[in-house]
Amino acid sequence: MCGIIGYVGSADANTPDAIDILLDGLSELEYRGYDSAGVALANAELDVYKSEGELEELVSSLSVSELREPGVGIGHTRWSTHGPPTDTNAHPHTDDSGRVAVVHNGIIENYQTLRDELTAEGVTFESETDTEVVPYLISLYLESAENADGVRSDGGSIVYERAFRRAIDRIEGSYAIAAVFEGDETIYATRKESPLVLGIEENGDGRAGDADGQSTGAEGGYYLASDVPAFIEHTDRVVYLEDEEFVRLNGEGYEVSDEDGTTIEKTVKTVDFDAEDTGKSGYDHHMLKEVHEQPSALRQCLRGRVDELAGTVTLEELDTFVEQEFAAPIEFVACGTSYHAALYGASLLQQRGIHATATIASEYTTDRVPVDDDTLVVGITQSGETADTLRALREANRAGGTTLAVTNTVGSSAARACDHALYIRAGPEIGVAATKTFASQQLTLLVLSAAVSSQISHDEIQSLRRVPDQVRTILETTSAREVAEELVGSDAFFFIGRGLHYPVALEGALKFKEITYEHAEGFAAGELKHGPLALVTENTPVFAVVTGDGQTARKTISNIKEVEARDAPVVVVTDGASDVERYADYVLGIPETNERCAAVLANVQLQLIAYWVANTMGRSIDKPRNLAKSVTVE
Ligand code: AGP
Ligand code: GLU
Repeated sequence: MCGIIGYVGSADANTPDAIDILLDGLSELEYRGYDSAGVALANAELDVYKSEGELEELVSSLSVSELREPGVGIGHTRWSTHGPPTDTNAHPHTDDSGRVAVVHNGIIENYQTLRDELTAEGVTFESETDTEVVPYLISLYLESAENADGVRSDGGSIVYERAFRRAIDRIEGSYAIAAVFEGDETIYATRKESPLVLGIEENGDGRAGDADGQSTGAEGGYYLASDVPAFIEHTDRVVYLEDEEFVRLNGEGYEVSDEDGTTIEKTVKTVDFDAEDTGKSGYDHHMLKEVHEQPSALRQCLRGRVDELAGTVTLEELDTFVEQEFAAPIEFVACGTSYHAALYGASLLQQRGIHATATIASEYTTDRVPVDDDTLVVGITQSGETADTLRALREANRAGGTTLAVTNTVGSSAARACDHALYIRAGPEIGVAATKTFASQQLTLLVLSAAVSSQISHDEIQSLRRVPDQVRTILETTSAREVAEELVGSDAFFFIGRGLHYPVALEGALKFKEITYEHAEGFAAGELKHGPLALVTENTPVFAVVTGDGQTARKTISNIKEVEARDAPVVVVTDGASDVERYADYVLGIPETNERCAAVLANVQLQLIAYWVANTMGRSIDKPRNLAKSVTVE
């Protein structure tokens, strides 16, 4: 997984310098990977600059002012899969003559075979990456292509594109790949199971060319990126590339074609977020900003879906499909935080008498979780690009199931791979730790479970409508920072919950370990006594989620007494409906509501606990070590 950026200034427009566009674009893509970064500038010569570490390491090693010239370039922020993050393993990679430079996102599965073959041809590899075979393959085919000289429709030489296509033809695996050549001011790119999107800027005003979306040659510049924020400052007009499509970008325009070289007419779409959306707006971290964006994200999520007066819940995207499919068994597949949302969603449906289960996507196979024509497989994925989830969804599709993507990313691979897509509408999330997107997943699943149920009460609809304001109340009144500062330095941190609060406990612990690097575990409250209680001491705080005053709350209170007896500090997240506060050392309050909505509210307090402990410890909150936002490898 990584971030790719490419830029070509239009031949007949006043264009900015490529290096500035590339470095700005990479800074917006660092959430996708940040263990090394590099750029290649391709004008008369081909110059490559790369460096281990975050982007700022690369920037400080460059004399940017000397590199300022209009032109063509590609850039990369890496998240290593093959070979550690080092200067040599950083992308772009070149052949030994330095006439072609390549950036790659994904994994080349047959790289060892290709490496052996190229070694036999006399190639000496410098890096340990799978990627480095690509420039050497291109170089090999360039030599043979040169004998068959030809001219492209835009006047350029055809040999580069031929060599690029022949090299791609040899590789197996997942990839988004872009290449530039010495003396050819053109970018060649393609994708398979890794995202790639074009940005089209017309005369600097960010709007597209002619009505059918093909280039007119009048655009100010053309961008190529793994994700839209990389160029949203310049244009909101995009073209999504599909698997196995090729694109050629140069000063004259862009052309998308299929594997055989046949031109494909692509539609130019307008995306609706602006550059402001990806900034920090005065917050110290993207994560804290995104936690505070939850009221508006959740309002956005509900917009047009819940009608209090009519007492109805509707999901326009699904429409009639909801009634047909939700009578059948439902299998959720997801990873990480999204898996916790899946567990929550499955419980919501079970409460409504619908058969539903949740499986970790990397563990999902149709042998273990049988699929027939009636089965609906729901992939929950914020990015829509998670390889484990995509594989599970594709397998389910092949086995004959109907698939639904619940995602934040319009036009993502998951949205396109599934029969149906339902959007959580959280807006871009930059912090690696998923926060507002988890809340929006929960709320979307609440709406979905209500939409498929014939019995939704007026009270339930009102509770749903109140969630955004209640989250705001929590953000304004929370004492999470004080509690975090008291407990930082403890040996370990445990999170417990029961029923719908069990996935919240798991999520509380995941968020905590992800950004604090401290030992944290989430448990079903009733499971503590079956083993984990042995870990509980006066130096292991236990966070318990208890809402309402029913059976579930009473039982969790018994579990709290078990840890209290072992002198563990107890923090309860509660709506105050029960007497749980009597057994607590610290209380994090949430407004009163039903158990379903309480699970959304309680999670906000746990997000803040994780944030403030990590902040007190000086952790790299937005980019925790070893992690990346979008995990596009299995
Ligand atoms: C959580 O904070 C992480 N970002 C991670 O667990 C994430 O939820 C997981 O990788 C799945 O990502 P997705 O929702 O984009 O598929
Ligand atoms: N597999 C390549 C590498 O390890 C690309 C990884 C990425 O997507 O950043 O260099």
